[in-house]
Amino acid sequence: MADWLSNAIFYEVYPQSFQDTNADGIGDFKGIIKRLDYIKELGCNAIWMNPCYDSPFMDAGYDVTDYYKVAPRYGTNEDLKELFDEIHKREMHILLDLVPGHTSYQHKWFKESMKAEKNEYTNRYIWTNSIDEFPECLHSIRGFSDRFGTCAVNFYSLQPALNYGYVNANKDYQLSPEHEDCMKTRQEFIDIMKFWLSMGCDGFRVDMAGSLIKKDDEHSTENIKLWNYFMDAIKTEYPDAAMVSEWGEPKKSIAGGFDMDFLLHFGPAGYTSLFRSETPYFSKEGKGDIRVFVEQYKDFYQASKGKGYICIPSGNHDMQRLSKGRDMDELKICFAFLLSMPGVPFIYYGDEIGMKYLDNITSKEGGYYRTGARTPMQWNSSVNAGFSTGTPDSMYIMLDPDKERPTVEKQEKDEWSLLNEVRRLNNLRMKHKALQSDGEIEFVYSEKNTYPFAYIRRNENEKILVVINPSGKDESCTLNIKEANVLYYVQKAAELNQGKLSVPACSATFFQL
Ligand code: NOJ
Ligand code: CA
Repeated sequence: MADWLSNAIFYEVYPQSFQDTNADGIGDFKGIIKRLDYIKELGCNAIWMNPCYDSPFMDAGYDVTDYYKVAPRYGTNEDLKELFDEIHKREMHILLDLVPGHTSYQHKWFKESMKAEKNEYTNRYIWTNSIDEFPECLHSIRGFSDRFGTCAVNFYSLQPALNYGYVNANKDYQLSPEHEDCMKTRQEFIDIMKFWLSMGCDGFRVDMAGSLIKKDDEHSTENIKLWNYFMDAIKTEYPDAAMVSEWGEPKKSIAGGFDMDFLLHFGPAGYTSLFRSETPYFSKEGKGDIRVFVEQYKDFYQASKGKGYICIPSGNHDMQRLSKGRDMDELKICFAFLLSMPGVPFIYYGDEIGMKYLDNITSKEGGYYRTGARTPMQWNSSVNAGFSTGTPDSMYIMLDPDKERPTVEKQEKDEWSLLNEVRRLNNLRMKHKALQSDGEIEFVYSEKNTYPFAYIRRNENEKILVVINPSGKDESCTLNIKEANVLYYVQKAAELNQGKLSVPACSATFFQL
């Protein structure tokens, strides 16, 4: 495992929307460099940046046309190298986003693959030998090429699926994962990863990592093997490269050699039940059930402990923002939890100031409902909230029009702002190894449909009890711990007397044991 992950706190930068420096309304690398000190002062020491490669941007850059070249709108490869260097100067790390499952339909490989004559790229994508609907319920595109066939796609219909082969290949068009053409697809991605690692990138977030080998790989055995192959190739040369998967099944991804996996909004309800269900646990309404999360988490945690990490993000570019339906006090409690869990935390840009999700705004670059979570970062009270000096109507996505919209500038001046709370919580984590990635967790109070919720984080030297009450009511419970001193609290401290824990409404308390 990459050692630096043991105290990593990540910040997700959506490059389009972070900081524009040439007034074209789109964020760029120079803008990210300008804001690195802000990220560092927030207490984050690592960045995941969404795809920045050349692309027609029909899925915001998850549709790549050249994996070796950055999109001109962000700068040049040299500018990206400068960003890497500036990050390392600050003792921080950066992951790029790798999209190995599909390319843009405009990628040169795909143009070759569409040709009727056989060539080097004929098998780079998954094509049948008929123009009928794709047989295995994969989405597909057909009727646009000279080639006689239907091509599988991965996400949107403009993202043809790369060919890593099939489990139990048995139809004329299905190749086995070891077929030499599938091995060439693998080699290409090894070359791509090494290209950026040699330039100074510290690893990758891997898009749809569990979906490369096609169909009915029920236990993902072939996908796991494939990732082990990639990891061997990468980690022998770059042992400190960190890999995080968009997979959502840590048992599989960590077996595949990933250092960490995201707990996400797809699959079982663990993550969704916290913040984004009908009755989320983190809400003043107090109608949630923490067991939904705890049961799933414990299972994942036991399976991955000592081998890899679980990452619980505050949000990302694919879902509604954490602030949706929550006030600033509620958000502080969410962060007290997110920043005191084992594994590696990820803060989505703007969540640290409670940026709003904008409902029903016009879709941008294939964003659709996701667009409202991708609006420009709000820095200050100047034009376009300091994101860009361009004209307001030339912005990549509209800014939150609310005059009272939160900004970094306003919140920096307020000791009790969400921003300053997140900073303090990050500092607390940095000061106490027990709270960091490897500190163990034991859930000491997590009852069905009940508030509060309590866990102990520990390492060889230290034990910290964390008590979280997101509900709008004072709550109490009994613990096996008689008393303890308060180390830190958010809003109002809980009290522990002879095993009776009294927990104020909407609070989080850290006790030293
Ligand atoms: C997951 C990415 O996070 C999302 O933004 C993208 O649209 C799909 N994968 C397809 O690449
Ligand atoms: Ca720009």
